Amino acid sequence: MRMEQLETPALVVDLDIMEENMRTMDRLLEGTPIRLRPHYKSHKCPAIAKLQLEHGAKGICCAKLSEAEDLILSGVEDVLIANQITAPAKIARLAVLAGYCDLTVCVDDADNVDALQAACGQQGTELRCLVEYDIGMNRCGVKTKEEVSSLARHLLYAPNLIFEGIQAYAGNLAHEEDIVLRKRESEAVEEKVRELKNYLEDQGISVKEVSGISTGTIDFHGKDSVYTEAQCGSYLFSDTSYRKVGVSFRNALSVLATVVSARPGAIVTDAGVKSLAMDQRPPVFAAAPELSVNFSEEHSAVYGDVPAKKPGDIIRIIPGHCCTTVNLYDWIYLVRDGQVVDRLPVTGRGRSQ
Ligand SMILES: Cc1ncc(COP(=O)(O)O)c(C=O)c1O
Repeated sequence: MRMEQLETPALVVDLDIMEENMRTMDRLLEGTPIRLRPHYKSHKCPAIAKLQLEHGAKGICCAKLSEAEDLILSGVEDVLIANQITAPAKIARLAVLAGYCDLTVCVDDADNVDALQAACGQQGTELRCLVEYDIGMNRCGVKTKEEVSSLARHLLYAPNLIFEGIQAYAGNLAHEEDIVLRKRESEAVEEKVRELKNYLEDQGISVKEVSGISTGTIDFHGKDSVYTEAQCGSYLFSDTSYRKVGVSFRNALSVLATVVSARPGAIVTDAGVKSLAMDQRPPVFAAAPELSVNFSEEHSAVYGDVPAKKPGDIIRIIPGHCCTTVNLYDWIYLVRDGQVVDRLPVTGRGRSQ
Protein backbone atom coordinates (compact mmCIF):
# COMPACT_ATOMS: atom_id res chain seq x y z
CA MET A 1 0.00 0.00 0.00
CA ARG A 2 1.22 3.52 -0.80
CA MET A 3 1.40 5.91 2.15
CA GLU A 4 -1.05 8.21 0.35
CA GLN A 5 -3.70 5.50 0.84
CA LEU A 6 -3.54 5.71 4.65
CA GLU A 7 -6.46 7.23 6.46
CA THR A 8 -5.35 10.62 7.79
CA PRO A 9 -4.09 12.18 9.95
CA ALA A 10 -1.49 9.38 10.04
CA LEU A 11 1.95 9.27 11.63
CA VAL A 12 4.62 7.94 9.26
CA VAL A 13 8.34 7.28 9.61
CA ASP A 14 10.65 7.21 6.62
CA LEU A 15 12.78 4.16 7.41
CA ASP A 16 15.69 5.15 5.17
CA ILE A 17 16.06 8.47 6.99
CA MET A 18 15.59 6.90 10.44
CA GLU A 19 18.33 4.36 9.67
CA GLU A 20 20.58 7.15 8.40
CA ASN A 21 20.01 9.00 11.71
CA MET A 22 21.04 5.85 13.61
CA ARG A 23 24.25 5.66 11.58
CA THR A 24 24.89 9.37 12.17
CA MET A 25 24.62 8.75 15.91
CA ASP A 26 27.08 5.82 15.61
CA ARG A 27 29.56 8.14 13.90
CA LEU A 28 29.18 10.82 16.59
CA LEU A 29 29.78 8.30 19.39
CA GLU A 30 32.62 6.43 17.71
CA GLY A 31 35.87 6.75 19.69
CA THR A 32 34.12 8.34 22.70
CA PRO A 33 33.46 6.68 26.07
CA ILE A 34 29.74 7.37 25.57
CA ARG A 35 27.19 4.67 24.83
CA LEU A 36 23.69 5.35 23.64
CA ARG A 37 20.77 4.82 26.02
CA PRO A 38 18.00 6.30 23.84
CA HIS A 39 14.99 7.95 25.39
CA TYR A 40 11.68 6.09 24.99
CA LYS A 41 9.67 9.32 25.00
CA SER A 42 10.47 9.95 21.34
CA HIS A 43 8.69 6.87 19.95
CA LYS A 44 6.99 5.09 22.90
CA CYS A 45 7.11 1.95 20.80
CA PRO A 46 8.79 -1.23 22.16
CA ALA A 47 9.51 -2.53 18.65
CA ILE A 48 11.59 0.57 17.91
CA ALA A 49 13.32 0.31 21.30
CA LYS A 50 14.33 -3.22 20.33
CA LEU A 51 15.64 -1.99 16.99
CA GLN A 52 17.79 0.53 18.85
CA LEU A 53 19.08 -2.22 21.16
CA GLU A 54 19.89 -4.48 18.20
CA HIS A 55 21.72 -1.53 16.69
CA GLY A 56 23.98 -1.30 19.76
CA ALA A 57 22.16 0.78 22.39
CA LYS A 58 23.16 -0.36 25.90
CA GLY A 59 19.64 0.00 27.32
CA ILE A 60 16.64 2.30 27.18
CA CYS A 61 15.88 5.42 29.15
CA CYS A 62 12.36 6.59 29.99
CA ALA A 63 10.61 9.21 32.08
CA LYS A 64 7.82 7.34 33.85
CA LEU A 65 7.30 4.19 35.87
CA SER A 66 4.47 3.10 33.55
CA GLU A 67 6.79 3.52 30.54
CA ALA A 68 9.34 1.33 32.32
CA GLU A 69 6.62 -1.29 32.84
CA ASP A 70 5.79 -1.11 29.12
CA LEU A 71 9.44 -1.68 28.22
CA ILE A 72 10.02 -4.46 30.74
CA LEU A 73 6.83 -6.28 29.70
CA SER A 74 8.11 -6.24 26.14
CA GLY A 75 11.40 -7.81 27.21
CA VAL A 76 13.81 -4.87 27.51
CA GLU A 77 16.38 -5.89 30.11
CA ASP A 78 18.13 -2.63 31.03
CA VAL A 79 15.95 0.38 31.83
CA LEU A 80 16.75 3.77 33.34
CA ILE A 81 13.91 5.91 34.67
CA ALA A 82 15.60 9.30 34.35
CA ASN A 83 13.39 10.76 37.07
CA GLN A 84 12.60 10.51 40.76
CA ILE A 85 9.89 8.09 41.89
CA THR A 86 8.43 9.40 45.14
CA ALA A 87 4.78 8.27 45.51
CA PRO A 88 4.56 5.30 47.95
CA ALA A 89 2.45 3.13 45.60
CA LYS A 90 4.90 3.71 42.75
CA ILE A 91 7.91 2.99 44.96
CA ALA A 92 6.32 -0.36 45.83
CA ARG A 93 5.85 -1.15 42.09
CA LEU A 94 9.38 0.01 41.30
CA ALA A 95 10.79 -2.36 43.92
CA VAL A 96 8.91 -5.28 42.33
CA LEU A 97 10.00 -4.29 38.81
CA ALA A 98 13.63 -4.22 39.93
CA GLY A 99 13.36 -8.00 40.20
CA TYR A 100 12.67 -8.32 36.47
CA CYS A 101 15.49 -6.34 34.84
CA ASP A 102 18.50 -4.10 35.46
CA LEU A 103 16.53 -1.10 36.66
CA THR A 104 17.96 2.31 37.52
CA VAL A 105 16.23 5.37 38.96
CA CYS A 106 17.33 8.92 39.81
CA VAL A 107 17.40 10.28 43.36
CA ASP A 108 17.95 13.72 44.85
CA ASP A 109 16.59 13.29 48.39
CA ALA A 110 17.73 11.23 51.40
CA ASP A 111 14.18 10.39 52.60
CA ASN A 112 13.38 9.10 49.11
CA VAL A 113 16.49 6.90 49.29
CA ASP A 114 15.23 5.49 52.61
CA ALA A 115 11.81 4.79 51.09
CA LEU A 116 13.39 3.03 48.08
CA GLN A 117 15.57 0.94 50.41
CA ALA A 118 12.60 -0.05 52.57
CA ALA A 119 10.58 -1.17 49.52
CA CYS A 120 13.46 -3.05 47.89
CA GLY A 121 14.40 -4.60 51.25
CA GLN A 122 10.87 -5.91 51.58
CA GLN A 123 10.90 -7.33 48.03
CA GLY A 124 14.45 -8.62 48.24
CA THR A 125 15.35 -6.77 45.03
CA GLU A 126 18.31 -4.59 44.04
CA LEU A 127 17.82 -1.16 42.50
CA ARG A 128 20.50 0.98 40.86
CA CYS A 129 20.44 4.68 41.60
CA LEU A 130 21.93 7.74 39.91
CA VAL A 131 22.23 10.85 42.05
CA GLU A 132 20.87 13.72 40.00
CA TYR A 133 23.10 16.78 39.84
CA ASP A 134 21.49 20.00 38.61
CA ILE A 135 23.91 21.46 36.11
CA GLY A 136 21.80 24.41 35.05
CA MET A 137 18.39 23.11 34.07
CA ASN A 138 16.86 24.04 37.42
CA ARG A 139 14.47 21.08 37.35
CA CYS A 140 15.33 18.16 39.64
CA GLY A 141 18.68 17.36 41.23
CA VAL A 142 20.90 18.63 44.01
CA LYS A 143 22.97 21.75 43.43
CA THR A 144 26.32 21.03 45.10
CA LYS A 145 29.12 18.45 45.02
CA GLU A 146 28.76 18.04 48.78
CA GLU A 147 25.09 17.07 48.45
CA VAL A 148 25.90 14.53 45.73
CA SER A 149 28.60 13.05 47.94
CA SER A 150 26.26 12.85 50.93
CA LEU A 151 23.54 11.09 48.88
CA ALA A 152 26.10 8.73 47.32
CA ARG A 153 27.23 7.70 50.83
CA HIS A 154 23.62 7.27 51.88
CA LEU A 155 23.18 4.88 48.94
CA LEU A 156 26.38 3.02 49.78
CA TYR A 157 24.93 2.21 53.21
CA ALA A 158 21.61 0.99 51.75
CA PRO A 159 21.93 -2.80 51.30
CA ASN A 160 19.41 -3.11 48.45
CA LEU A 161 20.46 0.02 46.54
CA ILE A 162 23.49 0.41 44.30
CA PHE A 163 25.15 3.79 43.80
CA GLU A 164 25.66 3.64 40.05
CA GLY A 165 26.76 7.20 39.34
CA ILE A 166 25.46 10.61 38.31
CA GLN A 167 22.53 11.90 36.28
CA ALA A 168 23.54 15.27 34.78
CA TYR A 169 21.12 16.32 32.05
CA ALA A 170 21.49 19.84 30.64
CA GLY A 171 18.05 20.07 29.01
CA ASN A 172 18.29 23.85 29.12
CA LEU A 173 20.89 23.70 26.32
CA ALA A 174 19.09 21.21 24.03
CA HIS A 175 17.30 23.83 21.93
CA GLU A 176 19.74 26.72 22.26
CA GLU A 177 19.86 28.03 18.69
CA ASP A 178 23.14 29.93 19.09
CA ILE A 179 25.60 27.15 18.27
CA VAL A 180 28.60 28.96 19.74
CA LEU A 181 26.78 29.39 23.04
CA ARG A 182 25.45 25.80 22.96
CA LYS A 183 28.96 24.43 22.43
CA ARG A 184 30.57 26.67 25.04
CA GLU A 185 27.93 25.85 27.65
CA SER A 186 28.12 22.10 26.87
CA GLU A 187 31.88 22.23 27.42
CA ALA A 188 31.29 24.05 30.72
CA VAL A 189 28.87 21.27 31.73
CA GLU A 190 31.56 18.66 30.93
CA GLU A 191 34.01 20.51 33.17
CA LYS A 192 31.56 20.83 36.03
CA VAL A 193 30.63 17.15 35.91
CA ARG A 194 34.30 16.12 35.64
CA GLU A 195 35.05 18.17 38.76
CA LEU A 196 32.21 16.40 40.57
CA LYS A 197 33.42 12.96 39.48
CA ASN A 198 36.98 13.72 40.62
CA TYR A 199 35.68 15.09 43.91
CA LEU A 200 33.73 11.87 44.58
CA GLU A 201 36.56 9.59 43.51
CA ASP A 202 39.02 11.49 45.73
CA GLN A 203 36.74 10.46 48.59
CA GLY A 204 36.87 6.82 47.50
CA ILE A 205 33.37 6.87 45.94
CA SER A 206 33.61 5.23 42.56
CA VAL A 207 31.37 6.57 39.79
CA LYS A 208 30.51 3.93 37.22
CA GLU A 209 28.06 5.87 35.05
CA VAL A 210 27.56 9.51 34.11
CA SER A 211 24.29 9.84 32.21
CA GLY A 212 22.68 12.76 30.36
CA ILE A 213 23.03 14.48 26.94
CA SER A 214 20.30 15.47 24.47
CA THR A 215 20.09 15.41 20.69
CA GLY A 216 20.92 19.13 20.75
CA THR A 217 24.26 18.73 22.54
CA ILE A 218 25.52 15.31 21.42
CA ASP A 219 27.92 16.96 18.92
CA PHE A 220 29.84 18.57 21.78
CA HIS A 221 30.73 15.54 23.89
CA GLY A 222 33.84 14.03 22.33
CA LYS A 223 36.47 11.40 22.99
CA ASP A 224 37.49 12.95 26.34
CA SER A 225 33.94 13.15 27.64
CA VAL A 226 33.21 12.38 31.28
CA TYR A 227 29.81 11.01 30.21
CA THR A 228 29.28 7.28 29.73
CA GLU A 229 25.66 7.42 28.52
CA ALA A 230 23.73 9.64 26.10
CA GLN A 231 19.97 9.80 26.60
CA CYS A 232 19.14 11.30 23.19
CA GLY A 233 15.62 10.65 21.96
CA SER A 234 14.78 13.00 19.11
CA TYR A 235 17.86 12.05 17.07
CA LEU A 236 15.83 9.22 15.57
CA PHE A 237 13.04 11.35 14.02
CA SER A 238 14.00 15.04 14.45
CA ASP A 239 11.44 17.84 13.95
CA THR A 240 11.19 21.53 13.02
CA SER A 241 12.50 22.58 16.45
CA TYR A 242 15.71 20.57 16.11
CA ARG A 243 15.96 21.57 12.45
CA LYS A 244 16.10 25.19 13.61
CA VAL A 245 18.78 24.27 16.17
CA GLY A 246 20.80 22.78 13.30
CA VAL A 247 21.51 19.26 14.56
CA SER A 248 23.17 16.49 12.50
CA PHE A 249 19.94 14.48 12.09
CA ARG A 250 17.34 14.60 9.30
CA ASN A 251 13.59 14.65 9.56
CA ALA A 252 12.19 11.11 9.42
CA LEU A 253 8.77 11.70 10.97
CA SER A 254 5.73 13.19 9.21
CA VAL A 255 2.05 13.53 9.77
CA LEU A 256 0.12 12.82 6.60
CA ALA A 257 -2.95 15.00 6.17
CA THR A 258 -5.72 15.20 3.59
CA VAL A 259 -6.54 18.49 1.86
CA VAL A 260 -10.16 19.18 2.82
CA SER A 261 -10.46 22.56 1.12
CA ALA A 262 -8.32 24.31 -1.48
CA ARG A 263 -8.54 27.51 -3.49
CA PRO A 264 -5.99 29.84 -5.05
CA GLY A 265 -3.91 31.13 -2.16
CA ALA A 266 -5.11 28.61 0.43
CA ILE A 267 -4.72 24.97 1.44
CA VAL A 268 -6.70 23.58 4.40
CA THR A 269 -6.05 20.07 5.81
CA ASP A 270 -7.64 17.69 8.32
CA ALA A 271 -4.71 17.76 10.81
CA GLY A 272 -5.04 20.31 13.61
CA VAL A 273 -3.65 20.63 17.10
CA LYS A 274 -5.28 17.35 18.13
CA SER A 275 -2.93 15.63 15.66
CA LEU A 276 0.15 17.86 15.91
CA ALA A 277 1.85 18.90 19.15
CA MET A 278 2.35 22.63 19.54
CA ASP A 279 4.61 22.80 22.61
CA GLN A 280 7.77 23.82 20.70
CA ARG A 281 8.24 25.39 17.25
CA PRO A 282 5.18 25.03 14.97
CA PRO A 283 4.89 22.23 12.41
CA VAL A 284 5.33 23.11 8.72
CA PHE A 285 3.93 21.75 5.45
CA ALA A 286 6.77 19.91 3.69
CA ALA A 287 5.70 21.34 0.33
CA ALA A 288 5.77 24.93 1.61
CA PRO A 289 8.15 24.99 4.60
CA GLU A 290 8.64 28.76 4.46
CA LEU A 291 4.93 29.49 5.01
CA SER A 292 3.65 29.73 8.56
CA VAL A 293 0.73 27.44 9.29
CA ASN A 294 -2.56 28.41 10.96
CA PHE A 295 -3.96 25.80 13.33
CA SER A 296 -7.29 25.03 14.92
CA GLU A 297 -8.43 21.85 16.66
CA GLU A 298 -9.02 19.78 13.53
CA HIS A 299 -7.52 21.89 10.73
CA SER A 300 -4.26 23.39 9.60
CA ALA A 301 -4.01 25.86 6.75
CA VAL A 302 -1.46 27.84 4.78
CA TYR A 303 -2.27 31.01 2.89
CA GLY A 304 -0.42 33.01 0.26
CA ASP A 305 1.84 31.67 -2.44
CA VAL A 306 0.82 28.03 -1.95
CA PRO A 307 1.44 25.04 -4.26
CA ALA A 308 -1.59 23.98 -6.31
CA LYS A 309 -3.62 21.34 -4.43
CA LYS A 310 -7.13 19.95 -4.67
CA PRO A 311 -9.45 18.41 -2.06
CA GLY A 312 -8.45 14.82 -1.42
CA ASP A 313 -4.75 15.40 -2.06
CA ILE A 314 -2.39 14.11 0.63
CA ILE A 315 0.26 16.40 2.05
CA ARG A 316 3.11 15.83 4.48
CA ILE A 317 3.43 17.92 7.64
CA ILE A 318 6.72 17.99 9.58
CA PRO A 319 5.98 17.99 13.34
CA GLY A 320 7.26 20.82 15.52
CA HIS A 321 8.17 18.39 18.32
CA CYS A 322 8.45 14.69 17.46
CA CYS A 323 8.09 13.32 21.03
CA THR A 324 4.81 15.01 21.94
CA THR A 325 3.39 14.40 18.44
CA VAL A 326 4.04 10.64 18.68
CA ASN A 327 2.11 10.67 21.96
CA LEU A 328 -1.03 11.66 19.99
CA TYR A 329 -1.11 8.47 17.88
CA ASP A 330 -1.91 4.79 18.39
CA TRP A 331 0.18 3.62 15.42
CA ILE A 332 3.40 4.53 13.66
CA TYR A 333 3.44 3.54 9.97
CA LEU A 334 6.86 2.60 8.62
CA VAL A 335 7.45 3.68 5.04
CA ARG A 336 10.18 2.98 2.49
CA ASP A 337 10.14 4.82 -0.83
CA GLY A 338 6.56 5.87 -0.06
CA GLN A 339 5.44 2.25 0.40
CA VAL A 340 3.97 1.26 3.79
CA VAL A 341 6.02 -1.73 5.00
CA ASP A 342 4.71 -2.13 8.58
CA ARG A 343 2.79 -0.47 11.37
CA LEU A 344 3.84 -0.49 15.01
CA PRO A 345 1.65 0.16 18.08
CA VAL A 346 2.63 3.15 20.23
CA THR A 347 2.01 1.19 23.44
CA GLY A 348 3.70 3.82 25.61
CA ARG A 349 1.17 6.40 24.48
CA GLY A 350 -0.62 7.98 27.43
CA ARG A 351 1.64 6.17 29.91
CA SER A 352 2.20 9.35 31.85
CA GLN A 353 1.89 7.87 35.36
C1 LIG B 1 16.07 13.35 31.21
C2 LIG B 1 16.10 13.53 29.73
N1 LIG B 1 17.08 12.93 29.03
C3 LIG B 1 17.18 13.06 27.71
C4 LIG B 1 16.28 13.83 27.00
C5 LIG B 1 16.60 13.91 25.52
O1 LIG B 1 15.78 14.41 24.69
P1 LIG B 1 16.06 14.76 23.15
O2 LIG B 1 17.26 14.05 22.70
O3 LIG B 1 14.80 14.26 22.55
O4 LIG B 1 16.16 16.23 23.13
C6 LIG B 1 15.24 14.48 27.68
C7 LIG B 1 14.26 15.32 26.98
O5 LIG B 1 13.28 15.80 27.47
C8 LIG B 1 15.16 14.34 29.09
O6 LIG B 1 14.21 14.96 29.82
